[in-house]
Amino acid sequence: PERGLIIAIDGPAASGKGTLARRLAANFGLPHLDTGLLYRATACALLDEGRPLDDIRAAVEAARGLALCDFDEARLRTRELGEAASVVAAIPQVRAALIDMQRGFAGRPQGAVLDGRDIGTVICPQAPVKIFVTASAEKRAQRRALELASRGEKVDYAAVLADVRKRDERDSGRSQAPLKMAEDAVALDTTDLDIEAAYRAACEIVEERLALAGKV
Ligand code: CDP
Ligand code: CDP
Repeated sequence: PERGLIIAIDGPAASGKGTLARRLAANFGLPHLDTGLLYRATACALLDEGRPLDDIRAAVEAARGLALCDFDEARLRTRELGEAASVVAAIPQVRAALIDMQRGFAGRPQGAVLDGRDIGTVICPQAPVKIFVTASAEKRAQRRALELASRGEKVDYAAVLADVRKRDERDSGRSQAPLKMAEDAVALDTTDLDIEAAYRAACEIVEERLALAGKV
């Protein structure tokens, strides 16, 4: 693709955004940023310091002090940190503290793939390709329960489904940068798509959007 292509991928928990973003990035030779990790790492820093998740000053300091290279994904991908991330992500000052680094990443000359909740709406509203990935709550809970189990975390499906629903509500209901589809995004429902089928559908969306934008 042409220089500077930005692909924005948003959607609710365990919809398959990250998997798609990684594969699209590899396919198009673009760097990838999983922005959920920023909120997970901010929450992790607070927990490690023994601070409550509503300590705004400490949360902003933690967000400003993040170093991407220090991320311990094994820890950040736990159920506990998914939940804690969505609590700190509702603090407007935390979101504000993370905007510049996300836009900086997206602004690199070679382009980028970013995935999260507000990439198409707030971080990169100019992105020519925006995909909004969804799947039923039940399917997402199933996937997340399998994923957590494969990471060695003991979880039961009912608890994970409750988590997914609570996170959907918190992420969609917050005042700042709520989870919502950008007007010019293309929806991709992966409820009945495996990873390969979802990836093929996403590639088609990218090609279509690029053709529309006159870029191929
Ligand atoms: O992988 P999963 O979708 O479960 O979570 P994540 O993408 O790692 O994001 C964890 C939490 O961070 C979400 O529930 C959101 O509250 C928050 N988040 C956000 O507010 N904005 C983003 N761009 C990315 C994540
Ligand atoms: O990033 P997000 O939380 O939206 O989801 P993910 O981390 O990409 O996917 C969550 C889990 O579902 C992973 O274990 C994926 O392998 C799996 N998955 C799937 O089974 N089928 C899909 N179409 C997409 C993801």
